[in-house]
Amino acid sequence: MEHFTRVRIPDLMQRKAAGRKIAMLTAYDATMARLLDRAGIDILLVGDSLGMVIQGYDTTIPVTLDAMVHHARAVANGAKRALVVADLPFLTYQVSDAEAIRNAGRLIQDGGAAAVKMEGGAPVARVAAKMVEAGIPVMGHIGLTPQAVHRLGGFRIAGKTEPEAEQLLEDAKVLEAAGVFAIVLELMPAGVAARITAELKIPTIGIGAGAGCDGQVLVSYDAFGMFDGFAPKFVKQYANLGEQVVAAAQAYAEDVRGGRFPAEEHTVSVKPK
Ligand code: KIV
Repeated sequence: MEHFTRVRIPDLMQRKAAGRKIAMLTAYDATMARLLDRAGIDILLVGDSLGMVIQGYDTTIPVTLDAMVHHARAVANGAKRALVVADLPFLTYQVSDAEAIRNAGRLIQDGGAAAVKMEGGAPVARVAAKMVEAGIPVMGHIGLTPQAVHRLGGFRIAGKTEPEAEQLLEDAKVLEAAGVFAIVLELMPAGVAARITAELKIPTIGIGAGAGCDGQVLVSYDAFGMFDGFAPKFVKQYANLGEQVVAAAQAYAEDVRGGRFPAEEHTVSVKPK
């Protein structure tokens, strides 16, 4: 029964209170959204990771708001049960509060997402609060924040020293006070993520942050073995769809070249009237 009920933002807080973990995966198109919906995934994140796995860039920096709206619309069209959250890409929420609210509004209104996600801690808390005030649900994202790859000097683990860990806890608390409904904790020591999770009322969703979070997220292309770029150590690969696609495409090409496809049963024949 629960499987077919739309996941809504207040449900997530109840999940945390009841100790029931939240399963989130990225999705970028309607077909994948329908499949992940059938699998009972709670949250579909239209991540700006699409810059890397869909568009072929090395980072998420070149992703535009238009691209995010386009993919969010496709995922929202496919998902009937999961909560759809869309990323605000690089520099769409830093210039001014008004611009940030308008950009977030596009992901909701044109993209069909139920909520937006934005990277950063205390420095983005004020704009997060403004969005929440404007009626836009916001998910936070701290730890490794890929949009800051150049400032950080690479995709580096966060919170390794005590002051860094304290800063992450502070960031999480400030975001919670700003009204975000959940926070992604990316690539940090498990102990730090567990401490943040214990001190917040809102749920945490971990990626490379250990088992102590209230939920987990993975980039679906990594989890399903569809991305042949760098796979971080924290990824568990649940399938090898990339190899299956290569094998299927090879079999198709051999059939075409050998004259075995199309066969009789794939051929439309119309009797002349
Ligand atoms: O863009 C993305 O896919 C993300 C997840 C890795 C959390 O932000």
